Amino acid sequence: MDTLIETHGPIVAAEARPIKLACRNVWKVYGQRPDYYFDSRGYVIDADALSERMRAEAHLPAVVDASFEVATGEIFVIMGLSGSGKSTLVRCLSRLVEPSAGEILLNGRNLLKASAKELIQIRRHDMGMVFQNFGLLPHLTVLENVAFPLKIQHKGQKEREERAREMIALVGLNGREKSLPSQLSGGQQQRVGIARSLAVGPELWFLDEPFSALDPLIRRQMQDEFLRLQKMLKKTIIFITHDIGEAFRLADRLAIMRAGKIVQIGRPADIVLNPADDYVAQFTEEIPLLRVIKAGDLAKPAGEMNIDQSIAAEANIETLIPSIAGGTKAFRVLRADGPPHMLLAADVLAVLERDMRRQAP
Ligand SMILES: Nc1ncnc2c1ncn2[C@@H]1O[C@H](COP(=O)(O)OP(=O)(O)O)[C@@H](O)[C@H]1O
Ligand SMILES: [Mg+2]
Repeated sequence: MDTLIETHGPIVAAEARPIKLACRNVWKVYGQRPDYYFDSRGYVIDADALSERMRAEAHLPAVVDASFEVATGEIFVIMGLSGSGKSTLVRCLSRLVEPSAGEILLNGRNLLKASAKELIQIRRHDMGMVFQNFGLLPHLTVLENVAFPLKIQHKGQKEREERAREMIALVGLNGREKSLPSQLSGGQQQRVGIARSLAVGPELWFLDEPFSALDPLIRRQMQDEFLRLQKMLKKTIIFITHDIGEAFRLADRLAIMRAGKIVQIGRPADIVLNPADDYVAQFTEEIPLLRVIKAGDLAKPAGEMNIDQSIAAEANIETLIPSIAGGTKAFRVLRADGPPHMLLAADVLAVLERDMRRQAP
C-alpha cells in the first residue's frame, strides 16, 4: 500500500446534523436456525469468528454485525460486489427483511419494536424506495403510477393528481403523463420510479441500484439528475451500488461491504487516501484521487495567512491545478463551519504524483 497522505477532515461536510437513521450491530442470517446464534440480547463478541462458524454450520450470514449512522440530509452510499449483502442490508433498514439481531433506530426510535401496523405507516409516509427493475405497474399510465402511493394513503383524486404532476415535472417528464411504461425508455421509466417514490414526501430515501440497468451514458445523466434533485430536496439517502465510480460520484460518505461485512466507512477522500485494507485499496485503485479529494480534505489550520487566492472547502483539488501551474503556492480555504484553513500547493502536487504512480502500469 502507498504511504499515507494526511487528511484533516472532516471540515468539508457539516457534521453537526442530527442522526436520522442508525444501524447497530445488525445481522441477517439465512439458514435453518438463525436465532440459535444470538442470545436474548443479540450480543456478539467476535463477529468474524461467529460468521465463520455460521458458514461452517450451513448458515449464510448475509449481513454481519453492520453498524453505521446516517445524518439528516446525507447521501450514504453502500457499495460492494454482487452478493456482498447490500440489498439484504437495505431491506433490513425498512424491515422488508427481518434482521436476525441488532437495532435500527429511526429518529432515535427502534424500528424493530414497531408493530406491524406502525411499520406500514412508517413505510407509507416516511420512506421512499427505488429499485433496479423500476417496478412500475404496466397497465397504469405515468400519472397513475406516480399517484399510486397517494391512492394507498387514501388521498383525494385532485390532490393525488396535483402532487403527481408536480413530481413528474420535477423529474423532467412533463408531457408524458398519459404514456404507459412500455412506451418509455429505461431512463424514463426509472424517472417515473423516482417520481413515484418521492410522491409521498419521504424523509428517508432508499435507492437499491437504481441506475444499474441503464446504459453508461444514461446512467451518468441520471446521476447528475439525482444530485440536482437532492440539492433541492435534501432527503436522507441510502444509495446502493456495485459501481465504484457511481459510488464516489454521489457519496457524502460511503460504506464498503464484503461478504456481508462493512469493511470501511468514510468520506470518499478518507477511503481513497487511507484504505482500511488491501481489498479496499484494490477496489478503489481506479478512482482518480484528484477528482475525489476536496480542498477541505487537505487543508490545515493556520494562523496569519498572507494569501491572495481564496477557495471553498468543497472545491475539488483538480480545479486548482491551473493556479498552481501559474505559481500559486498556497490557498486560503473558506469553510462554512469555522475559520479558514490553509492548503499548500505542495500537498496538491503530492496527490497528483500519487495519482500518476497509481495509474502507471
Ligand atoms: N431469501 C434468501 N434466502 C437465502 N439466501 C439469501 C436470500 N436473500 C439473499 N440471500 C443471499 O444473501 C447474500 C447477499 O445477497 P444480496 O443482499 O442480494 O447481495 P447484493 O445486493 O450485494 O448483491 C447472497 O449470498 C444471497 O444469495
Ligand atoms: Mg442487490
